[in-house]
Amino acid sequence: MVNGQSETIILRAEKLELGYRRGEAVVRDLHLDVQRGEIVTLVGPNGSGKSTILRAMARILRPRGGAVYLNGAAIHRLSTRKVAQELAILPQHPIAPGDLTVRDLVQRGRFARQAWWRASNLHDRDVIGWALDSAGLTDLADRRLGTLSGGERQRAWIALALAQEPEILLLDEPTTFLDISHQLEVMALLRKLNAEDGLSIAMVLHDLNQAARFSHRLIAIHEGSVYAAGAPDTVLTEGMLREVFQVEGVIGRDPHTDAPVFTPLYSLRGGSEPRGDAADG
Ligand SMILES: Nc1ncnc2c1ncn2[C@@H]1O[C@H](COP(=O)(O)OP(=O)(O)OP(=O)(O)O)[C@@H](O)[C@H]1O
Ligand SMILES: [Mg+2]
Repeated sequence: MVNGQSETIILRAEKLELGYRRGEAVVRDLHLDVQRGEIVTLVGPNGSGKSTILRAMARILRPRGGAVYLNGAAIHRLSTRKVAQELAILPQHPIAPGDLTVRDLVQRGRFARQAWWRASNLHDRDVIGWALDSAGLTDLADRRLGTLSGGERQRAWIALALAQEPEILLLDEPTTFLDISHQLEVMALLRKLNAEDGLSIAMVLHDLNQAARFSHRLIAIHEGSVYAAGAPDTVLTEGMLREVFQVEGVIGRDPHTDAPVFTPLYSLRGGSEPRGDAADG
């Protein structure tokens, strides 16, 4: 036990209240745990507070109330360097100068791991090579970021996060802009890093079916609080989709993966009526 917290919890939010400047609170009284070694995914509609929560969990946004604990230590009392040795985040809209090469970007992930008195060593080079390879970027290592496709750039950011050798990786919509094959590649990479290297992962996804298939647990966020948390089967329900997403639909089961699968039928927003789909003729 560290500070009274179980060692099985790597990241914990307690009674978080979050907001921007003088605006109203966006998140209130939020409790959330990430277990060591799990993949947990936040799902929720646009504007429900997912990115805000992730930023606070990564020490980017200071909470108005409550606290975040990383390995039992209050994260806002830790230095940037100390946090970066344990946690990496891929933000929703990362920005980097377009004239950096992929390798330059990934090299920056080593910053928190390098002693100030020496440049990169053999281990750093191994890790950078591994990070590039894991993200399928070895052949693109010398390309400038500005010349990459959206999907390639996204993988460069993932490689940067991996180069930090974090214990926990936070990702905000890591598959946005990716075609379906690259989406599946990213999800497979995350699952491999989780299963083989024990990397703990907390992410935001909009694709509910991918979230259910690739996560140990889902956390549904509704207007800045946790609506439901648990195994995908218990969170991905028709009732949750109605109340949180305002969508009517049916839950089935994927015959290949056995994961719950949601088929959306129509939006309940603005009293819209179900309309015929193209497939209905
Ligand atoms: N920098 C900011 N300044 C002021 N308000 C903000 C800022 N960022 C987010 N908000 C507000 O906080 C609320 C939650 O936003 P957040 O980005 O956390 O939502 P989200 O669940 O990640 O949505 P999305 O699915 O669209 O990414 C929204 O009402 C948003 O307008
Ligand atoms: Mg967001």
